[in-house]
Amino acid sequence: MKHTAVALALLASTGSVSAAAVEGSQLQRRALATSEPFYPSPWMDPNADGWQDAYTKAKAFVSQMTLAEKVNLTTGVGWMGEQCVGNVGAIPRLGLRSLCMQDSPVGVRDTDYNSVFTSGQTAAATFDKTVMYNRGKAMGQEHKGKGVNVMLGPVAGPIGRAPEGGRNWEGFSPDPVLTGIGMAQTIKGIQDAGVIACAKHFIANEQEHFRQTGEAQGYGYNISETLSSNIDDKTMHELYLWPFADAVRAGVGSVMCSYQQINNSYGCQNSKTLNGLLKNELGFQGFVMSDWQAQHTGAASAVAGLDMTMPGDTEFNTGLSYWGTNLTLAVVNGTVPEYRIDDMVMRIMAAFFKVGNTLDQPPINFDSWTLDTFGNQHAAAGTGYQQINWHVDVQADHASVIRDVAAKGTVLLKNNGALPLNKPKFVAVIGEDAGSNPAGPNGCSDRNCDNGTLGMAWGSGSANFPYLITPDAAIQAQAVNDGSRYESILANNQVTATKALVSQANVTAIVFVNADSGEGYINVDGNEGDRKNLTLWKNGDQLIKNVSSWCSNTIVVIHSTGPVLVTDWYNSTNVTAIVWAGVPGQESGNSIVDILYGKVNPSGRTPFTWGATRESYGTDVLYEPNNGNGPPQQDFSEGVFIDYRYFDKANTPLIYEFGYGLSYTTFEYSNIKVQKSNAGDYKPTTGTTSAAPTFGNFSTNLKDYLFPSDVTPVWQYIYPYLNSTDGKTASKDPNYGKTAEEFLPPHATDSTPQPLLRSSGKSNPGGNRQLYDTLYTVTADIKNTGKITGNEVPQLYVSLGGPDDPKVVLRDFDRIRIDPGQTAQFRATLTRRDLSNWDVVAQDWVVSTYPKKVYVGRSSRKLGLSADLS
Ligand SMILES: *[C@@H]1O[C@H](CO)[C@@H](O)[C@H](O)[C@H]1NC(C)=O
Ligand SMILES: *[C@@H]1O[C@H](CO)[C@@H](O)[C@H](O)[C@H]1NC(C)=O
Ligand SMILES: *[C@@H]1O[C@H](CO)[C@@H](O)[C@H](O)[C@H]1NC(C)=O
Ligand SMILES: *[C@@H]1O[C@H](CO)[C@@H](O)[C@H](O)[C@H]1NC(C)=O
Ligand SMILES: *[C@@H]1O[C@H](CO)[C@@H](O)[C@H](O)[C@H]1NC(C)=O
Ligand SMILES: *[C@@H]1O[C@H](CO)[C@@H](O)[C@H](O)[C@H]1NC(C)=O
Ligand SMILES: *[C@@H]1O[C@H](CO)[C@@H](O)[C@H](O)[C@H]1NC(C)=O
Ligand SMILES: *[C@@H]1O[C@H](CO)[C@@H](O)[C@H](O)[C@H]1NC(C)=O
Ligand SMILES: *[C@@H]1O[C@H](CO)[C@@H](O)[C@H](O)[C@H]1NC(C)=O
Ligand SMILES: *[C@@H]1O[C@H](CO)[C@@H](O)[C@H](O)[C@H]1NC(C)=O
Ligand SMILES: *[C@@H]1O[C@H](CO)[C@@H](O)[C@H](O)[C@H]1NC(C)=O
Repeated sequence: MKHTAVALALLASTGSVSAAAVEGSQLQRRALATSEPFYPSPWMDPNADGWQDAYTKAKAFVSQMTLAEKVNLTTGVGWMGEQCVGNVGAIPRLGLRSLCMQDSPVGVRDTDYNSVFTSGQTAAATFDKTVMYNRGKAMGQEHKGKGVNVMLGPVAGPIGRAPEGGRNWEGFSPDPVLTGIGMAQTIKGIQDAGVIACAKHFIANEQEHFRQTGEAQGYGYNISETLSSNIDDKTMHELYLWPFADAVRAGVGSVMCSYQQINNSYGCQNSKTLNGLLKNELGFQGFVMSDWQAQHTGAASAVAGLDMTMPGDTEFNTGLSYWGTNLTLAVVNGTVPEYRIDDMVMRIMAAFFKVGNTLDQPPINFDSWTLDTFGNQHAAAGTGYQQINWHVDVQADHASVIRDVAAKGTVLLKNNGALPLNKPKFVAVIGEDAGSNPAGPNGCSDRNCDNGTLGMAWGSGSANFPYLITPDAAIQAQAVNDGSRYESILANNQVTATKALVSQANVTAIVFVNADSGEGYINVDGNEGDRKNLTLWKNGDQLIKNVSSWCSNTIVVIHSTGPVLVTDWYNSTNVTAIVWAGVPGQESGNSIVDILYGKVNPSGRTPFTWGATRESYGTDVLYEPNNGNGPPQQDFSEGVFIDYRYFDKANTPLIYEFGYGLSYTTFEYSNIKVQKSNAGDYKPTTGTTSAAPTFGNFSTNLKDYLFPSDVTPVWQYIYPYLNSTDGKTASKDPNYGKTAEEFLPPHATDSTPQPLLRSSGKSNPGGNRQLYDTLYTVTADIKNTGKITGNEVPQLYVSLGGPDDPKVVLRDFDRIRIDPGQTAQFRATLTRRDLSNWDVVAQDWVVSTYPKKVYVGRSSRKLGLSADLS
């Protein structure tokens, strides 16, 4: 396949991860990338900033727990065992109900009377920190109102290495700073609402293809292990880990480890990424939960840093678990050290208390597996018939938040004066993407189709619409109100009728087109999660070409999960305006009316580059296995050069650059000033942790863990109990009996004080606290030189100056409202991290001696102001 060849060629030419000989479409006997061990798994720090109170409360609770109770809290009850997409066991003796983990990053999934929010990617296009926070808080409130304890979002993996990546829309942007700010703001919002956020998917989860073996086999790819994302240490720090550092710094309570491997070690048992990067270097104090079925081992994943297994069974509905019974046995028989299970439980309970919870949790009032009022509490088992849905309306006034985010995240890409519309004489709306899905807004399960307007994309990152305002409905209402003539053709294939309509005098034609994508378990029109191309769907290009050949005032609106190729038509003089409206959510029509009619002056900026060709991106999804039946190898050999950093370096053709977007007014930038701060020298962290603490005690008599006579087991449900006092029988594991020394890596069970990494934060989640010292403050003046009020998004970039550095990298931004004729000051700071590179030898961030420059402007390529950083 063509695109495999591109990826392999890249790999062969640079091969920075591991040199590979390439012939045809197979990697020849190559040394596969490996991941270095990092043990033991770090235990919580009682003094960590922002976590002290939570630690104290968790300690008081955990100290009372029995081993079976602790195991219960770490292990899901099994797929569809309870009402949420994931539940752990309850602790009835201490008054804690089962904790509920629920999708999704755009709303509460699989329920009713909830809102559907604007996608993360579209929220990123607002470049507005307050808007990002408000969105997070409203989503958190809805989860809270349903009884959810952990909201499974936001997303920084995928970050968007390949524009085809199916789930890029769930995250924010291929720029790590924009994503990092999106993560931090969203997390603060969610957690301020009393719900634990879950930063996912950790890490390098950049494509859907080959993320799970079963799924891949279902598509006809016979692979024995999942894809391995092979990333060098510098790229890891400067790109993929960066937004997770911001998430940790923002106090995120949980992190979800990913399906795919990193350097040929699974995301949920990779000690380097979980123990080393996340828990030691970043000082993450919350808990790591597995993606659903992403756990592949018991004791090994425990010592590698996993704290909670989801949904708890080895695979969906096996009734068996790597943890549950096995974890009880492993602790009793000494394979998994007591401090490790205590630390798992401490982390879960500390996150629980950190967001303001008390033990008396309100009940879970919905069920993920049916919208019926009555049904089975245990869906997999088909037992426990009772009321399971209370249909609680949690929408509050969130519609206004959604309309606001979607309008502010809409990007005006081209405007030859056609917009804003002002009581046009005749509006003709063309395209399936302006109308309804004939099956209704929720007619396709998990939105597994692209019928009607694209308000949301597909997969577990979806939620049910309470309603979906289509562009057709909202524009028609506006047109009627204005006294405009209005007609719409909500199909792409009505050529004759379309020509007849848009060829008439006085017509303003608005063409709606889209491109969809989603999660890998769903294939829509041959797109197995990831997009198979970057073109518009359903002949959208032909529709635009047709309409614009008949109508000299053709406005194009694109709904999409990432960039599409506009090369063939964007420059036509008859295409008078182009608007990217992303994936807007339930208020789609209202927010596009706000922009088209100038009720909101556009200020969205594209959070990714619009390349002229697919190849111009330099990266792509790996669509065909390249390692025989073994794990496909995805070498991230482009390093940090994705999206605009690649276009700037390789100078490949692009249409709209990262950060670009027009307004109905104009702005002028001047007067850049740089002020140096007195931050003092960087001091690497030194010293050691305390020894690993344990909390409470436990019986080593297996009899004490036998299935209690008063518990009636639920079919397929995962429990912490044993069915036999014989370990081998209870574990159902033919290999039972191996000791920790025999099968765990050296130091995996070490409980002695451990050295702190120099780049790590001493009690400072996010890393060495001096990384966040302000080194410079930059200001610039921005004048609104037009006739109407507008919001401007000044962006601050730096050039780090080294031969291997990108031309410029985004470091901060703001969104400022400015009245006509007025001047506002943009003010941004540069931290030490902002000016550093990751030094792989020192294993620390270092400000290089290369001359550095700061730039301020309205996009990554319109950087009118610059100054040297002394
Ligand atoms: C992956 O391998 C590369 C090359 O050896 C190394 O730089 C990097 O640190 C490794 N990453 C992990 C997570 O093991
Ligand atoms: C574990 O969780 C299950 C399911 O919630 C519950 O029935 C059981 O009592 C719990 N066990 C303990 C020891 O708390
Ligand atoms: C898949 O590959 C394995 C070898 O890894 C082989 O044993 C098996 O027969 C193959 N299955 C199919 C359906 O081709
Ligand atoms: C324990 O884990 C092993 C895999 O390590 C698995 O095969 C077995 O079924 C598990 N046992 C139980 C009781 O879930
Ligand atoms: C301890 O229990 C675990 C989990 O069932 C098992 O994998 C391991 O082999 C056991 N080790 C010993 C020494 O019994
Ligand atoms: C809706 O989508 C499905 C799946 O993509 C497709 O098969 C079907 O024809 C579509 N229905 C309509 C009315 O467009
Ligand atoms: C409508 O079209 C006619 C014919 O081209 C033209 O004379 C007239 O000015 C147009 N009116 C408006 C409001 O555009
Ligand atoms: C790209 O994929 C979409 C969606 O499957 C499809 O409608 C379109 O025809 C494809 N484009 C090309 C050029 O094949
Ligand atoms: C633009 O539209 C007019 C009809 O108004 C048509 O005659 C002309 O050919 C179109 N131009 C292009 C480049 O499509
Ligand atoms: C687009 O149009 C502008 C102005 O007509 C022209 O300068 C530019 O070269 C065109 N670009 C392409 C890629 O055709
Ligand atoms: C343990 O026994 C109970 C009760 O007989 C049964 O439901 C359950 O499936 C058994 N669990 C395992 C892991 O064998």
